[in-house]
Amino acid sequence: MAQTRPLLSGHNLSKEFVVERKAVIGTPKKMFKALHQVSFAIYEGETVGIVGESGSGKSTLGEILGGLREPSQGQVFYDGVDIKHMDQEQYKRYRKNLQFIFQDPKGSMNPHFRIREIIAEPLITLGICRDKREIKQRVEAMISQVGLEEGTADKYPGELSGGQCQRVAIARALVVNPKIIICDEPVSALDVSVQAQILNLLKDLQKQHKNAYIFISHDIGVVNYMADRIVVMNRGSIVETGTAEQVFKHPVDPYTQKLVASSFASL
Ligand SMILES: Nc1ncnc2c1ncn2[C@@H]1O[C@H](COP(=O)(O)OP(=O)(O)OP(=O)(O)O)[C@@H](O)[C@H]1O
Ligand SMILES: [Mg+2]
Repeated sequence: MAQTRPLLSGHNLSKEFVVERKAVIGTPKKMFKALHQVSFAIYEGETVGIVGESGSGKSTLGEILGGLREPSQGQVFYDGVDIKHMDQEQYKRYRKNLQFIFQDPKGSMNPHFRIREIIAEPLITLGICRDKREIKQRVEAMISQVGLEEGTADKYPGELSGGQCQRVAIARALVVNPKIIICDEPVSALDVSVQAQILNLLKDLQKQHKNAYIFISHDIGVVNYMADRIVVMNRGSIVETGTAEQVFKHPVDPYTQKLVASSFASL
């Protein structure tokens, strides 16, 4: 049966950044519109791809949906509740259920923490688990699920490859059992051979955990491989949406047609 209510949605989201502050008092600030009136929805267990060129507003949209940035206008709803009007319990649930995986995992990891501490961190900071033995068990189970060797737990990020670090980032996102993971260019910094392994790992883990993914990439070929539905962004607006098949095989918008053509040209 079709699900009626999205798990997460954004309504008429706009974002303006101040790009230049004038020294003279009273002169207006120069603003840049990174997002205009964007609406977005994702349902349980599905993968929605967000694709567009660099600067099109993909990360800004992902960060607003995930609560890392405030929109200038518009609202975000998680499980039917506006995130701005959530009580403490609802907000805690939203934070737990929305995790991120970024392009540069090494850059976002504390180099002085062991991998087991990095993966355990969200369990502790979100107050999900206090028992040391349970934390250890959950961390070790995740290390094995993402295909890392047991010994990795006691290493530091600097001792791992980019692909191994991205597996750690996936383990850290999944350890709290989120409903949605926002993957922002998760394979763009990796070698082509490693990219496919990580994409397939994400797909396999989704089968087990039934989580949804918001999958952000500039590469429509990768997005088509991962997503059930695709949202195409250009200069802060959505220019086309549809099932992956519709958008990739029969793009209607000229900008989407250009993205598809350039994806084939790079093969
Ligand atoms: N903090 C900020 N201050 C000013 N402008 C910003 C800020 N963050 C983003 N922008 C601008 O907003 C636009 C959208 O940025 P965003 O990072 O969302 O793009 P993107 O589609 O994720 O690009 P990429 O593929 O390069 O990651 C860009 O033009 C960017 O320069
Ligand atoms: Mg980005």
